[in-house]
Amino acid sequence: MSVVPILMMGLVVAFCMAWRAAASQQGGSLALRSAHQYFYGSGNQVLLGEGYRNLTGASKMHCSKECLSDDRCFSFNYWNGNVSRCELNGASATRFPLAVRGWTGSYYCGPEKPLDVMRLQLLVKGDKGLPGLTDRTYDTQASASADCQTADQHLCELWEVDRAYAGRYAEILPADTDIWYAVPDSQALVNGSEVTQHGLPMTTSSPGICCLGSQLSPQDPFITSEYYSLQDVAGQARGCSALASHPCTLPELKAAYLRGYRQPTSSAWPYFAVRNRDVHLFSDGCGDYADGPGCYEGVVALTPRPRGSSPVFCCPNLYQ
Ligand SMILES: *[C@@H]1O[C@H](CO)[C@@H](O)[C@H](O)[C@H]1NC(C)=O
Ligand SMILES: *[C@@H]1O[C@H](CO)[C@@H](O)[C@H](O)[C@H]1NC(C)=O
Ligand SMILES: *[C@@H]1O[C@H](CO)[C@@H](O)[C@H](O)[C@H]1NC(C)=O
Repeated sequence: MSVVPILMMGLVVAFCMAWRAAASQQGGSLALRSAHQYFYGSGNQVLLGEGYRNLTGASKMHCSKECLSDDRCFSFNYWNGNVSRCELNGASATRFPLAVRGWTGSYYCGPEKPLDVMRLQLLVKGDKGLPGLTDRTYDTQASASADCQTADQHLCELWEVDRAYAGRYAEILPADTDIWYAVPDSQALVNGSEVTQHGLPMTTSSPGICCLGSQLSPQDPFITSEYYSLQDVAGQARGCSALASHPCTLPELKAAYLRGYRQPTSSAWPYFAVRNRDVHLFSDGCGDYADGPGCYEGVVALTPRPRGSSPVFCCPNLYQ
């Protein structure tokens, strides 16, 4: 471990790195851990819902040692205060990006650098259901798949990864990593700019990439993670075309709804093919917008008062 990154990353990182340095001097079982080598500290963040053990009144050093010496522990949250507390987590932020929350005065300590934790949060704001990597690496696709299932997820199809990150996954996934994904006994390679499929079956010990269970299919619409200004019609179209799709038309949205597609729970009213309108697919079609011009054929709710900035509903170019 070079000294330079510590100096460059500043105090917050040094906070957790120091714990690691001290803990590693204990030797012993620590050398057996293969999942990650360092913890970074992200201020004012926590990973919610993955804790399996609390330590109250524990020093930072103590929490760090406990986590590093427990095979179940992949990260921890730390709260300063009258009574300090840490919570050992059975997963990391990359796996459960939706569970990362702001929390003043706390620290999330895990394998992700603070910048990566911030990026996870930015992406989550615009999108739900982001894929995450398993915390461990596996020798077989079956065992990676079983781990995804313990979190009610499944090994992602590549198109699910593409869509969820809308082309920006390279900022999140570590480069040059082999990952298990949905095609049996095949691995994909993250090479810095994109996720590509290996031609041959591989058996490198790798993490799996897990997606939330869903009824999505490749022909369903999806919502960009990027937001665009209302006037930026060209940008909206580019956002869709980067993923072989186009801003949806009303008939396409209606057809998708009738096939069983439901807009992911989200407050977004995305833009679509018609300018100066935005749409929403409620679980009951137009919902409260059922009467009048704010409802397309009983299914798609739309308003003539769009917000100034929104994501876009994209529909795949199926017949190109
Ligand atoms: C840890 O403490 C917090 C706050 O009191 C609580 O919400 C959480 O359920 C506890 N976790 C465990 C595993 O006991
Ligand atoms: C912290 O301790 C001080 C002194 O004992 C007490 O007055 C204060 O209410 C405590 N704060 C919290 C949040 O418990
Ligand atoms: C990633 O893979 C693609 C497709 O094989 C290739 O075009 C691209 O140059 C690669 N990028 C890097 C950084 O290796």
